Amino acid sequence: MEYILLTGITSSIGQSIAISLSNKYRIILAGRNLIEITSIKEKLQGEEHLIWECDFSKNNVSESLKLFLQDNNVQPSHFLHLGGLVTINPIRLQKAEDTLKSFKVNVFSAIEIVSVLSKKEFKNSLKNVLFFSSISSIRGKSGFAVYASAKSALLGFMKSLAVELKPIKVNAIILGAVKTKATEAILKDKEDFLNNHIPLGLAKEDVLNEWVLFLLEGKTWMTGQEIIIDGGATVL
Ligand SMILES: NC(=O)c1ccc[n+]([C@@H]2O[C@H](COP(=O)([O-])OP(=O)(O)OC[C@H]3O[C@@H](n4cnc5c(N)ncnc54)[C@H](OP(=O)(O)O)[C@@H]3O)[C@@H](O)[C@H]2O)c1
Repeated sequence: MEYILLTGITSSIGQSIAISLSNKYRIILAGRNLIEITSIKEKLQGEEHLIWECDFSKNNVSESLKLFLQDNNVQPSHFLHLGGLVTINPIRLQKAEDTLKSFKVNVFSAIEIVSVLSKKEFKNSLKNVLFFSSISSIRGKSGFAVYASAKSALLGFMKSLAVELKPIKVNAIILGAVKTKATEAILKDKEDFLNNHIPLGLAKEDVLNEWVLFLLEGKTWMTGQEIIIDGGATVL
């Protein structure tokens, strides 16, 4: 059975993806909250899933991953980077330490993880890298500038990686508005409006499950691509 390294496991979307893939893959549940991650692991099918405890706002991400993979003698076949930090702030109030944290969690963690997975002891097993960006990276929204720039950085990173790491497939999903436990409060007063405004309405946390399976297993002949899944929001 192949291993999937999945960051952002405690997010609603991450949990839903992990549960849906756990009958076919071993999941490496990556995140910082061990108690919550352990309870998610108990919901997965199968026995041999692993937990990689790591806080992406700290400085030891690549060392921690390398040790974890060596200790467990594991070579992941797929890396899905759902770990992220949403910050909504007027730019005039933005603090340098918050900007650094946003980039550490959204982007630098991805760079460090891929730099480990592309080393010769792991690279031969790796088939797919999938990043999760946001439509804020391609459409302007007040207050989202730092989050948007971090999610945009993932897109540039993804394109050059697709060339450098071929034949490993490296792609990014650009995600529209999904109702999750993280966005519930932000979307609360706008739900009716968004359901009328977005052609296919707001999505639920399981919106990516079939997409991810297709991208991992389908004969997609596709790398270096941005896949917009937004219920039609960006055609407006
Ligand atoms: N929901 C949407 O409308 C939407 C739209 C576009 C893109 N996205 C992206 O989709 C992904 C999932 O979003 P979501 O709404 O389901 O939930 P979310 O809470 O935004 O997901 C963030 C995930 O990143 C983890 N994380 C945050 N800081 C971390 C750190 N320092 N170290 C390690 N992990 C950390 C969180 O873990 P903790 O539980 O430990 O905080 C959580 O699992 C995110 O990347 C988000 O940017 C979501």
